[in-house]
Amino acid sequence: MSYNSGSKGSGGKFGGSRFGGSGGGGRFGGDRGGGRFGGNGGGRFGGNGGNFKNSQPGGGLKKPTWDFESLSPFAKDFYNPHPNVVNRPFHEVQNFLASKEITIKGRAPKPIQFFEEANFPEYVLAEVRKQGFDFPTAIQAQGWPIAMSGLNMVGIAKTGSGKTLAYMLPATVHINNQEPIKRGDGPIALILAPTRELAQQIQKVAIDFGSSTCVRSTCIYGGAPKGPQARELQRGVEIVIATPGRLIDFLEQGTTNLRRCTYLVLDEADRMLDMGFEPQIRKIIEQIRPDRQVLMWSATWPKEVKKLAEDFLQDYVQINIGSLELSANHNIVQIVNICRDNEKDQKLSTLLQELSQEEGKTIIFAETKKKVDNITRAIQRFGWHAMGIHGDKNQSERDWVLREFRKSSAGILVATDVAARGLDVDDVKYVINYDYPNSSEDYIHRIGRTGRSDQTGTAYTFFTPNNSKQARDLINVLTEANQEVDPELSKLAMRGGGGGGGNWRGRNQWGYQRNNNNRNFGGRERSHQKFNDY
Ligand SMILES: Nc1ncnc2c1ncn2[C@@H]1O[C@H](COP(=O)(O)OP(=O)(O)OP(=O)(O)O)[C@@H](O)[C@H]1O
Ligand SMILES: [Mg+2]
Repeated sequence: MSYNSGSKGSGGKFGGSRFGGSGGGGRFGGDRGGGRFGGNGGGRFGGNGGNFKNSQPGGGLKKPTWDFESLSPFAKDFYNPHPNVVNRPFHEVQNFLASKEITIKGRAPKPIQFFEEANFPEYVLAEVRKQGFDFPTAIQAQGWPIAMSGLNMVGIAKTGSGKTLAYMLPATVHINNQEPIKRGDGPIALILAPTRELAQQIQKVAIDFGSSTCVRSTCIYGGAPKGPQARELQRGVEIVIATPGRLIDFLEQGTTNLRRCTYLVLDEADRMLDMGFEPQIRKIIEQIRPDRQVLMWSATWPKEVKKLAEDFLQDYVQINIGSLELSANHNIVQIVNICRDNEKDQKLSTLLQELSQEEGKTIIFAETKKKVDNITRAIQRFGWHAMGIHGDKNQSERDWVLREFRKSSAGILVATDVAARGLDVDDVKYVINYDYPNSSEDYIHRIGRTGRSDQTGTAYTFFTPNNSKQARDLINVLTEANQEVDPELSKLAMRGGGGGGGNWRGRNQWGYQRNNNNRNFGGRERSHQKFNDY
């Protein structure tokens, strides 16, 4: 069943005038010829800090043989439905599911409608109140009863809709119902995320909701010294939030282990299972007992990933909020401007000038690290408060940039896709795609840095004839969100081919052969390296 309803996107209001005229160029000096994968300092597993350049990730890790007889039992079903939920008539439940556009595949407990109905312990509710949230979001309303019942699940919901709490609150309950960890034990809950910044942000949520019950957490990621992270792990923590490369390092060295891990979260799960991370994820999951609970979350869920995910999920429930198709957050107005590469700088300059009259922060996404640097410098020269972030910057600089951006009232962050997923920064009002990303999934995550929670935002996208092959996919995303489609974009779509159809829309992004070693990394947009090196 599907409960699609109309959306409130409109589009036209901000018209194309923002983009100003054409011509000019060269103002922000692009990096043509600079190598599209330029600046490869991060190495194959750059961004995660792995040091596996010359070896298989986790090559030193042995797959344990699990003997169910000797595995100590653990509890994972703590869900005790609230009497209001138990007594709620069927048609009311159906109305709620329909109004929230909740689609369920598999057998799931009924959704809750109010925080009090989740039967969270008082310490969790107190923190929810402190944060000032009125109602659970749709993914929380349906996700909590499933997660608290100990079921494996996949939760797909738009960007900015509260997926972090959807897995974090059940994690604290899960942990509080386990034997306390002893010396030498690893974490009970493991949360895997694709970037350092996202891992750190997730830990902040873990701290907010865990501190009142002494649930300890640590965040481990590459690019920072190992010593302090190792000490935290050895001290004993209930929750580890990690990027895969560094975690594998620590597992190989025996600094920690996953023998106690019974609650596993893959945040940005489709990204974690793409061909850049999947071998590492496989290595990590092998170390976790098979009767673990697994929860995967994202705003996008391509079907090729679904098959891969099923390797790790066994029985599971899937919930989708909103369209079952690839879809963007409808609180974001999407404006696409068709232009040529040499017009982008002038257009960016005009656009920033106009946006400077408005409140709020801006994120500009560019394709390469070098372009990020060039654009940042150029914008700064024109007097804007701009900062750049990408995988070649060292950790302290990345930390500083994000901290400053969070604090600023009208800052401009120029970023590669390192900032595309999961980041939740208050008051980002505008996202500008200086370069169109590699896929419409990436597009959805990038623009999703605005319009968080119940806020609104606007995304501006420069789209050139070179991007024609992605035009049809983009039109589908725009149409689903009731946004205007520029006839020029439709013309490019006719020219560009690609799009539509069930073959991963010709992108070859995930189009490698599983189950045989002959992986095809030769997609037209991607190189293997590109996946983890932004
Ligand atoms: N029930 C709620 N009511 C209002 N705001 C909420 C609620 N739950 C979470 N939020 C807030 O919504 C914002 C977005 O949450 P979160 O980062 O978890 O989104 P997400 O769904 O994970 O997005 P993304 O797909 O981009 O990762 C956060 O600032 C969070 O504090
Ligand atoms: Mg998230």
